[in-house]
Amino acid sequence: MKLEITPQGVIAGSIPLFAGHPARDLLPIDSIRETVERVWLEPGVTRLFNYGAEQGNPELIDFLVERLRRAEKLPVARENLMIIGGSTWGVDMISDQLTRAGDVVLTDAPSYRDALHIFRDHRLELRDVPIDGAGVVVSEMERMLRELKAQGRVPKFYYVVPNFQNPSGITMPENRRRAIIELSQRYGFLIVEDDVYSDIRFEGELPPSFYALAGGENVLRIGSFSKTLAPGLRIGWLIGAAERIADFVGGGVLTMGGGANPFTAAIVAQYCRSGEWEAHVRWLRGQYRDRRDMALEALASAMPASVAYTRPAGGYFIWLQLPRSVRVDDLAERSREQNVYFAPGTGFFVEPDAGLHHLRLSYSFLPPEDLHAGIAVLGNLIRQMSR
Ligand SMILES: Cc1ncc(COP(=O)(O)O)c(C=O)c1O
Repeated sequence: MKLEITPQGVIAGSIPLFAGHPARDLLPIDSIRETVERVWLEPGVTRLFNYGAEQGNPELIDFLVERLRRAEKLPVARENLMIIGGSTWGVDMISDQLTRAGDVVLTDAPSYRDALHIFRDHRLELRDVPIDGAGVVVSEMERMLRELKAQGRVPKFYYVVPNFQNPSGITMPENRRRAIIELSQRYGFLIVEDDVYSDIRFEGELPPSFYALAGGENVLRIGSFSKTLAPGLRIGWLIGAAERIADFVGGGVLTMGGGANPFTAAIVAQYCRSGEWEAHVRWLRGQYRDRRDMALEALASAMPASVAYTRPAGGYFIWLQLPRSVRVDDLAERSREQNVYFAPGTGFFVEPDAGLHHLRLSYSFLPPEDLHAGIAVLGNLIRQMSR
């Protein structure tokens, strides 16, 4: 089955291997509709159509506090959380409130393309630090920090996707997280941990978050319902030290307009409190694991030995390294002729050329037959191009 249209508007009949969205058949539309009906019938529903509390829906905050305490033994309280309109909103708000044009921000090389876009919108100076199979290379980060210090500069923050990273699928182990926290304390920068994938875990345990390891100090951690419920609801959360959260909540945007999306936040709160969200997440893990397995099988049969790729234990993405003889822009041009689209590596680096031999595939969105067909097209093209 070919898709009619993708959210990015790619032409009908194409195979968008780039789409890091939940598959349409994995969105729990019926249960969301039932939840909307339940909320609609509650007394006082009209309050949801007025401005909401600046910190966000209180029931949703209470649910998240309870879950973090129960599932992670994280000693958070209501003051440590606020509701945001998705992770993207949080990354933008943090950049807006904590930086000025020209400030330095550290990221991974590669890192999440749309976060880089937001940092560029804020005219921040981006420095990316190479990763290996276990995330950012700490000695390289330290080298960069020393270099900056010699110029009298300190980064404002380090932006990291620690679990099942977008685009590489890699999870950073605990010892690296601890080493980075040590650097952040020594050099005096904040850590912004964008943790939208931790619930999409297929196997193994995840290390504690940066926020947990740092005892809540100088770390802002972002969560989202986009990957585990529905991105169209535009609801996420931000965890941080009480005084930082108070600063964000007291900002002009929220004071003027109220907290994030009161109506949808109430729907999400009800959905979570009924136990449906956690049940849905358990089910989703199996669904995405099957898709990950299918993508890996397709890669194993389609790709020449010269192509290396990651084997993510969760999340949405696989990161491919092409042979040196194949440039990703050439591959993109030729695959487009066959209606197959992917995310070229160039978008995920501060210096685009660093990604000339990489690409990101997403297995979250496509039906299995399209996943297989798209990967087969890429495999054939890479074989032809590397001759
Ligand atoms: C690392 C990362 N952060 C944030 C987002 C977007 O999250 P939201 O829909 O909550 O804004 C994505 C989606 O692709 C992502 O991969």
